[in-house]
Amino acid sequence: MITVVSLNPCMDETLCGAFQAGATNRFSTGQMDAGGKGYNVAAALKSLGAPVRLIGLMPRRGSDAYMQAVDALGIESDFVSCPGTLRVNTKIVDERGVLTEINRTGFSASALVAAQMADCCRHYAPKSALMLFCGSMPWGFAPDFYAAMADQLPSPAMIDASGAALRAAADSNAVLLKPNLDEFAQLIGETPAQTLDALARQVGLAARKMGKTLAVSLGARGMLLAQREQVFYAEAPKVSGVRCSVGAGDNALAAMAFSWTQGGRGETLLSAGVAAGTASVLRAGTQPLCRKTYRELLGRVSPLAIVGSPFDLNK
Ligand SMILES: Nc1ncnc2c1ncn2[C@@H]1O[C@H](COP(=O)(O)OP(=O)(O)OP(=O)(O)O)[C@@H](O)[C@H]1O
Ligand SMILES: [Mg+2]
Repeated sequence: MITVVSLNPCMDETLCGAFQAGATNRFSTGQMDAGGKGYNVAAALKSLGAPVRLIGLMPRRGSDAYMQAVDALGIESDFVSCPGTLRVNTKIVDERGVLTEINRTGFSASALVAAQMADCCRHYAPKSALMLFCGSMPWGFAPDFYAAMADQLPSPAMIDASGAALRAAADSNAVLLKPNLDEFAQLIGETPAQTLDALARQVGLAARKMGKTLAVSLGARGMLLAQREQVFYAEAPKVSGVRCSVGAGDNALAAMAFSWTQGGRGETLLSAGVAAGTASVLRAGTQPLCRKTYRELLGRVSPLAIVGSPFDLNK
């Protein structure tokens, strides 16, 4: 069983139609979907056929639709109830397809709620092949919460976070981190290199210092993965009809996690991540990951061991 920890759940409201900043905009009822990184990763694992459990925090108000969505997917779940209202993030897609996102900060959590959440993680970790910690944390959580859990829990952990939580994760026992390029730059405190071989060296060096697998996703350019002394790169398969790149990283993480529990390492992990990330961009925002598309794309990903070929990332 893979246990996904979701500390900052939300509902995603998507509004489609004419939109102009500074004007009065009228929309018919928007589409409401459960969201947040934890939910997205758990839903992707379910689509891939992985055994998955979703645990996390759930504010007392506004959570009915979220809970119904989790149940409808058949995902086992357990949430620590806390005061507050589930946030709604609004996405506006105008007639030209331009996306405007309005994300609300989540609820605040007390020290008691943080302690209950840590207990919940301790309860499920021994029954889990892998723990996944993804996304932002509510006010009230120490930035090193994920790192502390990775150090304390008996099962391996993967972390997809940014800023201080990612920096703390770098010093933890987590087995894998999945930053995107911006998050990787924040993590190492340097400008990322512009050529693939130089970037691969930066990623390889950072992974060796941390003693863990580092998967740096590069959007449409694919992903670099460093493990022990090796660095692999896989280009994203060329696809037409890209619809939505939001959440590509969540789907990539889900596929790497599933592959990892099945013994996948190095190139195998990388291929899974790139194929799922690319399968994800082909679906409309809220559609689940398509397993058939994922498998087709998996056959088209060809990971390379980096040997120093120049590759300008700006091209
Ligand atoms: N436009 C695209 N075309 C093809 N594949 C893509 C595209 N964008 C992303 N991908 C695939 O998805 C993977 C993850 O994407 P990305 O680097 O954008 O993650 P991310 O920034 O963490 O996303 P998020 O946090 O929104 O989930 C990439 O490594 C790549 O394989
Ligand atoms: Mg991401």
